[in-house]
Amino acid sequence: RPRFSNILIKINEEAADFYHRVLVSTNAGKRGLEYAQSRDLNNEIINHFRIGYAPKQDNLLLTYLRGHNYQDEDLLNTGLFVQSQAGELFDRFRDRLMFPLCNEGDYVVGFSGRRLSTDKTEAKYINSPETKIFTKSKTLFHFAEAKKAARSEKHLILYEGYMDVIAAYKAGIKSGIASMGTSLTDQQIYMLRRITNNIIINYDGDDPGIHAEERAAKMFNQVGGFNLGIVVLPEKLDPDEYVKKYGIEKYQDEIKGALTPTDFFLKRLAQKYNLANDREKLAYLDEATKEIAQLSNPVEQDLYLNKVAKEQSVSIDSLKVNLTKYRRQQN
Ligand code: CTP
Ligand code: MN
Ligand code: MN
Ligand code: MN
Ligand code: MN
Repeated sequence: RPRFSNILIKINEEAADFYHRVLVSTNAGKRGLEYAQSRDLNNEIINHFRIGYAPKQDNLLLTYLRGHNYQDEDLLNTGLFVQSQAGELFDRFRDRLMFPLCNEGDYVVGFSGRRLSTDKTEAKYINSPETKIFTKSKTLFHFAEAKKAARSEKHLILYEGYMDVIAAYKAGIKSGIASMGTSLTDQQIYMLRRITNNIIINYDGDDPGIHAEERAAKMFNQVGGFNLGIVVLPEKLDPDEYVKKYGIEKYQDEIKGALTPTDFFLKRLAQKYNLANDREKLAYLDEATKEIAQLSNPVEQDLYLNKVAKEQSVSIDSLKVNLTKYRRQQN
């Protein structure tokens, strides 16, 4: 067991062990274990991701940690407790499946807890608040392990959620990380850049997910130097749901079939127009050419012009005339 110089990390680590033990080996944890099983989380996965359960009863964690002689001031600073007006401490997380959130050294700095019930009036996930050791915008779920896997897998795959990273892991993809929602930050992009330029974005296949992929692609592009792949899953499925429905082999095919940003953009663009109508088709061709004009590599430009020309049954020469016009406008 390592010794921790930081008391807040030490307490978070203790809490992770506590929640994990409650889940796997107590009566109080049965509810959590049933939920975990309903989500296809087997023992190996539960152990690997150190998944836990925050029991329903008040203050079991508080009692446990006080019993181990931690001071209230330190406990409060971990964000694991909330304080009443009267100054009393209470467990923040109750009746939730607990995902430890780790720093780059793989030490627990916070948690995200999923509600077990389908009661939509309660937040699906609640997270530790920002503390001295936890800043959500600078954290990526599963980063410490994924960066090791990136050496052999040669890329990192960016997901929205914990369950997606876990589904990928079950499919043999260990280089998955999650931005923990769709609000990817520049700081997270810089963390990724230190590891690899090859990033595959695989957010949920629903509208918010696809919008967020577009936003993320622009952000990566702004920072520059990335080789991006973008996966759009069908039927609004997220990766976890996709694996459950279609299996891991199909999922691996989806990853292999990741779109280039230009393909992704052109596909999205085409959906905004009624291409059976000539006026709209011309507007689409204009926008598509504008997008292709932004590419710096002439071979790439040719590739996509050809594609669009073929798809829309127009000559590549006419598109090239437009392209030259847009290129001139940029300079
Ligand atoms: N999230 C969050 N708080 C919420 C909802 C979502 O922090 N109230 C983050 C979580 O990291 C979550 C991710 O955003 O994993 C993606 O959200 P969503 O797609 O709604 O959840 P799933 O990851 O699909 O969770 P589940 O499969 O458990 O429903
Ligand atoms: Mn591990
Ligand atoms: Mn989502
Ligand atoms: Mn999802
Ligand atoms: Mn999901």
